[in-house]
Amino acid sequence: MKLVFACLLVCALCFQAGTLAIDFYYLTIEWPKSFCNSGARISCTNVPNHFTIHGLWQEMNNGAPIPPPPVKQPFDNVQVKSDPALYQTMQQIWPGLTVTMPNEIFWKHEWDQHGAFTSFTQHDYLKIAVDRANDLGVLQLVQELNHAAGISIGKKYTVQYFKSAIQAAVGLKLGRPLEMHIICNFDLSGQNKVAQIHEIWFCTDNTGLQFINCTSKSSIRPCGPKGVYALPLP
Ligand SMILES: *[C@@H]1O[C@H](CO)[C@@H](O)[C@H](O)[C@H]1NC(C)=O
Repeated sequence: MKLVFACLLVCALCFQAGTLAIDFYYLTIEWPKSFCNSGARISCTNVPNHFTIHGLWQEMNNGAPIPPPPVKQPFDNVQVKSDPALYQTMQQIWPGLTVTMPNEIFWKHEWDQHGAFTSFTQHDYLKIAVDRANDLGVLQLVQELNHAAGISIGKKYTVQYFKSAIQAAVGLKLGRPLEMHIICNFDLSGQNKVAQIHEIWFCTDNTGLQFINCTSKSSIRPCGPKGVYALPLP
């Protein structure tokens, strides 16, 4: 009986502290055009010329799936709109991009797939993702890559060059070096498929408050060190 109570208490505390059995989070950002051109059935409504948030995903170091919460809170758009500053920022930095996933459907999708498995309230979950993305300067990142490393939208780079440029830009912002993953995919809109930079995955600790170095190698998708990858024009 005592043991059961102790367990309940520990679980309740974890739940409150935002540290529910999660080792770290991926904060994933995407280059919108690389998503929009990657499938024939993807129809984008607007294609920003800055990086945007894909999501904040809970992870275990060993890759194990996160158990579902006892009660899955449904997405509530009223909560998003109750914080006008957050709502306004989300429209810019976390857009849904496609006809079938306008903003609010996309946010609901991310909440249902990821946020609802965390111990954050919906508001805090969304705000943490936005705050971390702002820490990285996501909206200005492409300009900073241009400034620091001459990277231009519409040109091609090796992943290593691209990654070094991001590490330099982000390292300056955070005041220390940071390891992240670069994810590539293919532009399928033309005659020949073109390899391109798609996403950047950053890692935070299990509170979502601090960036940590990404260590897992398993999730890097097919960017070879020698190949060149496009950063397509919007
Ligand atoms: C990431 O690793 C580098 C090299 O080991 C280290 O200097 C840096 O402080 C680490 N960054 C973070 C955010 O822990």
